[in-house]
Amino acid sequence: MDKETYFKLKNPQMASLKDQMFQAVAEDVDSKSSNKVTVVGIGAVGMAAAFSILAQNVSSDVALIDMFENKLKGEMMDLQHGSNFLKNAKISASTDLSVSANSRLIIVTAGVRQKEGESRLDLVQRNADIMKNLIPKLVEYSPDTTLLIVSNPCDILTYVAWKLSGLPKNRVIGSGTNLDSSRFRFLLAQRLNVAPTSMHGWIIGEHGDSSVPVWSGVNIAGIRLREINPSAGLDNDSENWNECHKDVVNAAYEVIKLKGYTSWAIGLSCADIASAIFRNSNSVKAVSTLVKGIHGIDSEVFLSLPCVLNANGVVSIVKQKLSPDELAKLHASAALMDEVQRGIKL
Ligand SMILES: NC(=O)c1ccc[n+]([C@@H]2O[C@H](COP(=O)([O-])OP(=O)(O)OC[C@H]3O[C@@H](n4cnc5c(N)ncnc54)[C@H](O)[C@@H]3O)[C@@H](O)[C@H]2O)c1
Repeated sequence: MDKETYFKLKNPQMASLKDQMFQAVAEDVDSKSSNKVTVVGIGAVGMAAAFSILAQNVSSDVALIDMFENKLKGEMMDLQHGSNFLKNAKISASTDLSVSANSRLIIVTAGVRQKEGESRLDLVQRNADIMKNLIPKLVEYSPDTTLLIVSNPCDILTYVAWKLSGLPKNRVIGSGTNLDSSRFRFLLAQRLNVAPTSMHGWIIGEHGDSSVPVWSGVNIAGIRLREINPSAGLDNDSENWNECHKDVVNAAYEVIKLKGYTSWAIGLSCADIASAIFRNSNSVKAVSTLVKGIHGIDSEVFLSLPCVLNANGVVSIVKQKLSPDELAKLHASAALMDEVQRGIKL
């Protein structure tokens, strides 16, 4: 039964009013819109992602999924009540995964988060089990989707999702160090009193404790920090630039200690990645992708590198010129991911 017939049967009076008010010209459009995004897990991160996507008009069709019916309904209603301030977005929610059908992008934030002092890698098997429950069914409902994995440990779970989904590698992406790079640029920019968007610096590798700051490339308007201070980021640097990377690594621990969880920055990072996909922008972002064969990595692991993102997901990886030290750290990240992956029961 189509939506219109169902509506008429359920609301005969309203249907007649609608008939008096409007002359139907064509069938209503159903939910097969091309920019549908589903957010799975509507905790702190999922809702920040959904809100950022709606507020920035990245998608006009957002579906929410969680296990808790009341919370889902509450979050959906709260967002819907803001519709007047958005751009006519459709907002739906259900505990049933079918609400995600025909999504172009599925953002997975379901899972446990770090407690104070817990590392991201501590969460691995618990969250891998959640992926096992979710990913195959989500892909059944949206076979052409792109997956954006946010749950931690992000790189490992992106690998798990890739394995479980059967999707091509370009369409399984981890939110990765897009967030770490944003934190890095903010901290560097504060020291030099410029806007973070004018500060160019990349964090690659693991979204987590073994992330790699690419000091050799940090620059403003093409002037590299290392041209002025050749030790920038190194242990013998009298200006202690490496404090900025230490603060990036500690950022989540610090925010979790202060407010219990992180949400706004990762929500904005998700909207940034979603925007590159929906707007087919070919923007370069540090996201987690299959890195086997790049920079001499020979294991099947996902790590962040600068990637060109468009409607097809990750379409290419930027081959940065890394210093021997940066390369060694990236390889250490890859070895750690490989070791943890071997311990997961898929
Ligand atoms: N990649 C990143 O940069 C980044 C940043 C922050 C947090 N995270 C991670 O994101 C995840 C979510 O964090 P949070 O703070 O929103 O946690 P949260 O506890 O606030 O929310 C998690 C939500 O997932 C839901 N959920 C759990 N299992 C589910 C299932 N099988 N189906 C549907 N929903 C399910 C829970 O009901 C809950 O609402 C954590 O793993 C956290 O570590 C990642």
